[in-house]
Amino acid sequence: MEHKNIYILAIESSCDDTSAAVLQNNKKLSNIVATQKIHEEYGGVVPELASRAHQQNIVPVVHQALAKANIDKKQLSAIAFTRGPGLMGSLLVGTSFAKSLALGLDIPLIEVNHMQAHILAHFIDEENNQKPEFPFLALTISGGHTQIVLVKDYFDLEILGETLDDAVGEAFDKSAKILGLPYPGGPLVDKYAQLGNPKAFPFPKPKVKDLNFSFSGLKTSILYFIQNQVKENPNFIEENLNDICASIQYTIIDILMSKLKKAAKQTGIKQIAIGGGVSANSGIRKALKDAETKYGWNTYVPKFEYCTDNAAMIGIVGYLKYLEGNFSDQSITAKARYVI
Ligand code: KG4
Ligand code: ZN
Repeated sequence: MEHKNIYILAIESSCDDTSAAVLQNNKKLSNIVATQKIHEEYGGVVPELASRAHQQNIVPVVHQALAKANIDKKQLSAIAFTRGPGLMGSLLVGTSFAKSLALGLDIPLIEVNHMQAHILAHFIDEENNQKPEFPFLALTISGGHTQIVLVKDYFDLEILGETLDDAVGEAFDKSAKILGLPYPGGPLVDKYAQLGNPKAFPFPKPKVKDLNFSFSGLKTSILYFIQNQVKENPNFIEENLNDICASIQYTIIDILMSKLKKAAKQTGIKQIAIGGGVSANSGIRKALKDAETKYGWNTYVPKFEYCTDNAAMIGIVGYLKYLEGNFSDQSITAKARYVI
C-alpha cells in the first residue's frame, strides 16, 4: 500500500517573529521567518506593535512558505498554529488566521503549545541529526521561559523546574541593556563574551531550591556593579566590555549547568536536549559538549534555525498530532498562559 504524504502548514506568531512553514511528514520543505525590527528602538518587544506587524506580515509570509515548498494550499492536509504561551495580541493574529484558513480549505486545525514545540523541534528530520531517545531531559531557554522538562514521550511531559522570575533570555537582554547594547542583546553578549575573560568579574549566584531558577537578583547585582564602576571610571564599560560580557555569560551558564546536573543526577537520565533562542549561545553549547566527556551525557542541540522562534517546530508537533488524529475545533481560542 502506498503511504500518503502529509502536508502541514504551520503558523507561529507568539512573540515578535511572524513565521510560516510547510512540512512533508517530518521533513521541512520551507520555514520563513519575518523578524520584526520595530522593537529594536524601544529596547524590548512592544506588544501592540508586535500584533500590528503580525497582521501585516502573515499573508506574505504564508505565501512565501507555500511558494518555497512548491505546495498549493489545496494539497495541505492540516493547519497547525501556536495557541500559546505568548503575547495575547500576537497569538490572536496567528490563531484567527489559522482558524479561517482551515475553515476555508475544510481541513483539520491543530493547536500547538510553543514550549512543547521548542522541545519537539529535535524530531524534525534533518540529514545527520541524532534524535533524543525517551526518556530525556529538555532544557528550554528562551526570552520568555526557562524550564527543565522530563520528556517521557512526545506528549508525556513533566516540568521539573522553572524560573521564578526572569527568563534566561531576559537575563541576557537586560544585562545587555545595562551595558548600553541594543535589543535583543543576548547574541551581542555572546559575541563579546567569546573575546573576554569569564573570571574577570565574579557575580553572585542565586540560591534557589530544587530545580527552579531565578535571574532577577543577578540582573540587579550587574546593575549595581556597573553603576559603581562607572562612577569611578566613566569609560569602564567600553574598556572592559569583553570581560564584562564573558563574566555575565559564565555566571548564567554556570547557573543553568548546575541545575541540569542536579536534574540528571536526580532522574538518572543522561540524554539531555536543549531548545529555545538561548540554545544558540556558544557558551551553553560548549558546556554541553564538555559534559558529554565529563559526565557521559548524550547531548542534543537543534540546528540554529530551529533554536529561535520558527514555524517548522510548530509543524513537527502538528504532524505528530495529525498522526494521532488530535485535532482542534473552531471554538478554540489563544491562550497567553499555557502550561505544557
Ligand atoms: O526562543 P526565542 O527566539 O523567543 C522566545 O520564545 O522568547 O528566544 C529569544 C531569546 C532572546 O532573549 C535573545 O536574546 C536570546 O534568545 N538569544 C541569545 C542568543 N541568541 C538568542 N542569548 C544568548 N546568546 C545567544 N547567542
Ligand atoms: Zn520561543
